[in-house]
Amino acid sequence: MPSDSVPVGIHDLTFRTTSLQLTHAELAGHTGVPLAKYHRGIGQKAMSIPAPDEDVVTMAADAAAAVVGRHGADRIRTLVFATETSIDQAKAGGLYVHSLLGLPPHIRVVELKQACYGATAALQFATALVHRDPDQQVLVLASDIARYDLDSPGEPTQGAAAAAFLVTARPALLEIDTPSGVFTREVMDFWRPNYRTTALVDGRASIDAYLHALTGAFGDYRRRGGATLRDIHTICYHQPFTRMAHKAHHHLLQQAGLPAGPQDIAAALAPTTTYNELLGNSYTASLYVALAALLDSGTPLDGETVGLFSYGSGSVAEFLTATVRPGYRDHLRTEAHHAAVTDRRPVGYAAYRDLHGSGLPTDGSRYATAASTPGPYRLAGIRDHRRLYETNGPAAGPTAATTGTATDRGVPGEGEGGGG
Ligand code: COA
Repeated sequence: MPSDSVPVGIHDLTFRTTSLQLTHAELAGHTGVPLAKYHRGIGQKAMSIPAPDEDVVTMAADAAAAVVGRHGADRIRTLVFATETSIDQAKAGGLYVHSLLGLPPHIRVVELKQACYGATAALQFATALVHRDPDQQVLVLASDIARYDLDSPGEPTQGAAAAAFLVTARPALLEIDTPSGVFTREVMDFWRPNYRTTALVDGRASIDAYLHALTGAFGDYRRRGGATLRDIHTICYHQPFTRMAHKAHHHLLQQAGLPAGPQDIAAALAPTTTYNELLGNSYTASLYVALAALLDSGTPLDGETVGLFSYGSGSVAEFLTATVRPGYRDHLRTEAHHAAVTDRRPVGYAAYRDLHGSGLPTDGSRYATAASTPGPYRLAGIRDHRRLYETNGPAAGPTAATTGTATDRGVPGEGEGGGG
């Protein structure tokens, strides 16, 4: 039975990232760019760097395992994997997560793409499914690695993370409100042709397109009966670099004729940028990492309306709001989030450039990745054009029993090894 009266929203939210990081202090020490340009000009202090055996699947599986570990998988009927770092032209990355976690078979698994907007499309897709049948749950995974060419303007805005959230009826964290505002316009501000591993971006055009889409989506939201800016406690913006959120908030306030001083904007947005300024851009995950930061910030939000602005270059944007559930703080994962950020090992500039330059073979030849990640899942290698994943250390068990490990398939130790 369709049920519009049952509140639907985000019941659990978490994120994970890679095990390595490059600080902008280290980057500035070699590029000669003033550190203040990174710290203040773009608002970034560090960026997550994937180890050779980490990718969007291993990050997403790590985040998803936490959600499934807390709530079980019995009621999950759909798993949506949102990414613009797709590892296959045909097969959804979520299928590897499904296998690694040993999830039940009666789950539809699909991948969604529209640049950084994909996870918000997934959220709306999930919300509709749960309204139709409030007994079912939808697991949304947003996982991306932002890679630009070395020595390009985009380089300091690289990063990586995976967010996982469970969409349910009567959620513990946030109810998704209606209406939402959407805006679409075809524009070449950022794209990645299939033959490239790094994105192409016209940075200035992407800032303009983002602000143009914000005006369009927020205007649509207001015309459809959405709240005024004064009624929204805090807005989480998509953060390709955290200074972009400042530009966006300034833009909205100015258009509404509200005071838009830099100090006030910095104070309003600080709770939403604490993780992303250390992780870098995580494309689809970025907005949901910003939301996690806000919820974890200690700002009392019970019953408050928070705004979410999602922008995917190319471009599609959406502005929506959510109402924070009283008692939400009992369901947060603040400690795990701090650990994900602080446990990363720093890499030096030379090692970072080596990692950036290395890649998986594209001819299907047998290849073993160097064992590096301390995370629960790893990309062991490639054989016969297939990616081989395995559980890592103590987490091994149910996954190995379900899928067979890559070790069983004889990959590690064979092939060229190193890099990835
Ligand atoms: N101290 C403090 N700030 C400084 C500075 C210094 N020494 N030197 C420069 N800055 C400021 C600039 O004034 C500028 O601020 P502004 O944007 O408010 O004017 C900012 O730092 C960036 O400087 P800029 O010269 O424009 O940098 P850039 O040419 O290296 O490009 C980006 C910056 C963000 C455009 C670039 O990193 C990029 O393209 N990133 C990718 C964007 C993206 O991912 N878009 C797609 C998704 S929306």
